[in-house]
Amino acid sequence: MSLINPIYYKKEGINQINSFIKKYNPSKIIFLVDENTHQYCLPKVIPEIEANSEIEIIEIESGEINKNLDTCKNLWEALTDLKIDRKGLIINLGGGVLTDMGGFVAHCYKRGIKFINIPTTLLAMVDASIGGKTGVDLGSHKNQVGIFVLPELVYIQPSFISTLSHEQKLSGFAEIIKHGLIADQEYWNKVSSYKVIPFNDFEEIEELIHTSIEIKKKVVSEDFSESGIRKILNFGHTIGHAVESFFLEKETPILHGEGVALGMIVESYISVKKGLLQESDYLSIKEFLSVFYPKISLHKEYLGEILTFMYNDKKNSNKEIKFVLLEKIGKAIFDVSVEEDLIKEALLKYIN
Ligand code: GLY
Repeated sequence: MSLINPIYYKKEGINQINSFIKKYNPSKIIFLVDENTHQYCLPKVIPEIEANSEIEIIEIESGEINKNLDTCKNLWEALTDLKIDRKGLIINLGGGVLTDMGGFVAHCYKRGIKFINIPTTLLAMVDASIGGKTGVDLGSHKNQVGIFVLPELVYIQPSFISTLSHEQKLSGFAEIIKHGLIADQEYWNKVSSYKVIPFNDFEEIEELIHTSIEIKKKVVSEDFSESGIRKILNFGHTIGHAVESFFLEKETPILHGEGVALGMIVESYISVKKGLLQESDYLSIKEFLSVFYPKISLHKEYLGEILTFMYNDKKNSNKEIKFVLLEKIGKAIFDVSVEEDLIKEALLKYIN
């Protein structure tokens, strides 16, 4: 098994989907969409698909709030009602919520049917749809249930970004920033020099997507099941996920990238306090992120609940909260235990 799924861009992506369909000859093709991708993306994809197989469309409601086992059950029932057999092919057309859940649903249905990812958000293009992480939230605990399983291929169409709101674009851009911070100082230098993020410049955005995917591919191919180096991709996520879970529980969800942006500021501060990152680098990270990401309104009273979510983080072991920290810009280390007092201090620093 290859340790990373094949990823194809633009016309080549469609060609590869068509040749896969021709070779595999699925009994049915099921497009999994949400209300947005149904309206804005599916009409662009369907006419390009060359297939003799019947095509079915299943729509789910967008939003992290729906990424749960109830939706999975509905999907498994819908697949059963449509009499999808083991030669069915699911094509996940959507953002990270949809590709995470669609991959999980496909892999568990009848012990596994094949699936393809067509990410339509920047976040899903540079992160969620590649590398084989699939799953759903359990209550407010993010991605608590899931498996590592690869799609047959991923098709990246950068023009789908024009269907997104500015907030959703920014949410994906946080993962791009993360890639520079953990693995490539030059990439960070380029990205952090933007006064305006070039979301409308497809050539530039395609270059960013490509660079980010290459960084992620390199990390994932060294450690598919995240026993070591892959953990660096979680920089900003220990704090970010806990804050996201907190707001999910309060039914005022924030976007993933907003949580990660906050997480990267707070975890950079912890990196300084641990004697790793230079303070001047922390200040430039904070300054850059603060220009583009609205400050999340956290209060001192929330810290206890946020810490409880952190103790449940998948990267922990032996009841210690384990962090990915920056040794310098472009170099991350993982499995660093951080004491509760320092975590609180770092969060208070963000609040004040
Ligand atoms: N989103 C982090 C990873 O795929 O490992």
